[in-house]
Amino acid sequence: MAQPFRYVVQSGRLVGQAWTPPPLRPGQVLVEVRGIGVNRADLLQVKGLYPPPAGYDDVPGLEFSGRVVDAARTNRWRTGDRVMGLVAAGAYASHVVVDERHLWAVPSLLRDTEAAAVPEALTTAYLNLVWRGKLRPSEWVLVHSAAGGIGSTAVQLIRLLGGRSVGMVGSDHKAQVVQKLGAHHVFNRKEDRRQLQKRLGTLVPNGMSLILDTVGPGWEAFHAAVSAPGGRWLLIGLLGRLSESETFPWGRFLQKELVMKASRLRNKPPEFKASLMAEIADTVLPAYSEGWMRPVVDSVLPLDQWTTAFEKLKKGDVIGKIVLQP
Ligand SMILES: NC(=O)c1ccc[n+]([C@@H]2O[C@H](COP(=O)([O-])OP(=O)(O)OC[C@H]3O[C@@H](n4cnc5c(N)ncnc54)[C@H](OP(=O)(O)O)[C@@H]3O)[C@@H](O)[C@H]2O)c1
Repeated sequence: MAQPFRYVVQSGRLVGQAWTPPPLRPGQVLVEVRGIGVNRADLLQVKGLYPPPAGYDDVPGLEFSGRVVDAARTNRWRTGDRVMGLVAAGAYASHVVVDERHLWAVPSLLRDTEAAAVPEALTTAYLNLVWRGKLRPSEWVLVHSAAGGIGSTAVQLIRLLGGRSVGMVGSDHKAQVVQKLGAHHVFNRKEDRRQLQKRLGTLVPNGMSLILDTVGPGWEAFHAAVSAPGGRWLLIGLLGRLSESETFPWGRFLQKELVMKASRLRNKPPEFKASLMAEIADTVLPAYSEGWMRPVVDSVLPLDQWTTAFEKLKKGDVIGKIVLQP
């Protein structure tokens, strides 16, 4: 095996270092990484604002694709298997040590670089829409950042599950992409908020049953207004600035008996992630094998160009995911 390496956070940047993977414990697998999905959490981790959970070294990277190179401590996988999976940190590396239950087999239609874009977005979208949001067929979902990593997956998943989505994007070009992914309607978030609310009210008079909220501050009144009675408001990100926060619409919240649930995937216990991934393997991965769902990959860059990837993501200049290759 070529000398393993990984990218460690040091004083606000990443430094490549030779590395010896630790001996595997029972149920662990060693994977040679072929692709790494880039997430906003990685940018925050490098800045020191989102440290890895206890027990992990300060190496970013939540998702990867690759080949199993050591399966001595697992009965689930064999050397050479093509896999994609989740780690709580550490994917910016040539190799990862991963819980055998946090891997999926890569559907044969997907290249390694596409597979690396799947795990974080799919588990987050499924956790929120299905487990927390209890999405039912024909319900309407408002999807913020609909052309982003999570949004582009959520729109396809909603269609697969028989729901209907309204995407929010920041440009006309992104709107076209999201429409093609299966959104019923797409709005430009930069348009006048009252006009948006009016148009949405006309198109979906009963309101949105679910809101997949990546923005938080600044949109609370809009969300309370466009929600259906009993709507579920799923907070997963805070892209909006806290300074833009409106007064929280308490009256409407109560009147409509809304439910707000917030969730973070990264810090969930291994058992939680294992059962989430097992359910998705049964219910959604076949859609990737049959071509009903596909990851949207914006660009593929070498791992040492991580700064270019981070800049692009920060600018919001990304459709789908950026993937790095070690
Ligand atoms: N809770 C969890 O478990 C979990 C897991 C993964 C990710 N997340 C979070 O979910 C959010 C979306 O993740 P992602 O991977 O889909 O991100 P992404 O691919 O980087 O997409 C983000 C997009 O959000 C849009 N946006 C809307 N309002 C914005 C604002 N005020 N500032 C900047 N961008 C804004 C931009 O697109 P437009 O210009 O087209 O609107 C931007 O391209 C992030 O906050 C991420 O940290 C949460």
